[in-house]
Amino acid sequence: MSRRLKTDIHGPDWRRGIDDLRERGIPAAFAPELEPPLHLVVEIGFGRGEFLKDLAQRSPETAFLAIDASHKRVLKMARRLALGELRNIRLVAARAEIVVEDMLLPESVACFWINFPDPWPKKRHHRRRLIQPQLIARLATRLVPGGVVWAATDHVEYAQQIHEVLSKEDALENDYAPAPWRREVPGRMVTAYELEWRAEGRTLHFFAYRRRPSASRSR
Ligand SMILES: C[S@@+](CC[C@H](N)C(=O)[O-])C[C@H]1O[C@@H](n2cnc3c(N)ncnc32)[C@H](O)[C@@H]1O
Repeated sequence: MSRRLKTDIHGPDWRRGIDDLRERGIPAAFAPELEPPLHLVVEIGFGRGEFLKDLAQRSPETAFLAIDASHKRVLKMARRLALGELRNIRLVAARAEIVVEDMLLPESVACFWINFPDPWPKKRHHRRRLIQPQLIARLATRLVPGGVVWAATDHVEYAQQIHEVLSKEDALENDYAPAPWRREVPGRMVTAYELEWRAEGRTLHFFAYRRRPSASRSR
């Protein structure tokens, strides 16, 4: 028997709709708790959200825009956040590609986190993978100069694809060069999926690509 999803929110509801974001812009979504200019960090595919909560707790003055395509995950996170003290997270249930394309302004994001995106291991599903050249080109323009795309995967073959896509983006440079990725990043917080993969003994791949100061603003 399936359990009914609880939808009531006992406290402030930090979800924002994409129409609202499109019409009023990102800074309005954080007002009045945070005032512009925002120091904006975006997590794409936050899943169960522990990593996001940890980041937000450590940086209460930073604005965290948290995007997940799963309405269920966003609802569950909204219910958890409503019971807590954090005031610097806004949740969006949408495909990240749409939010990045339509709602994030050029040079407005300090960093993007993409932790353990779905690997879609079957070849015929590879086009469903999140990390694609077009998305990365858009992320690069939305980053402030010196801003970073952080990514991680446990999947060996997806790691190779992520490396190829990121390293071919002219606007970004690899912080870990000459290595394509690192297997460990001391001090980095751990995500829910990461805990599972570590318990299984899988090899992890961590990426850090920084926007070149000279990169063009438009595209
Ligand atoms: C494998 S989980 C990883 C969750 C979390 N980052 C972690 O490491 O524990 C991938 C997450 O990305 C979300 N997702 C998949 N495609 C997405 C997209 N196009 N835009 C936003 N979120 C997406 C899924 O709903 C899921 O919550």
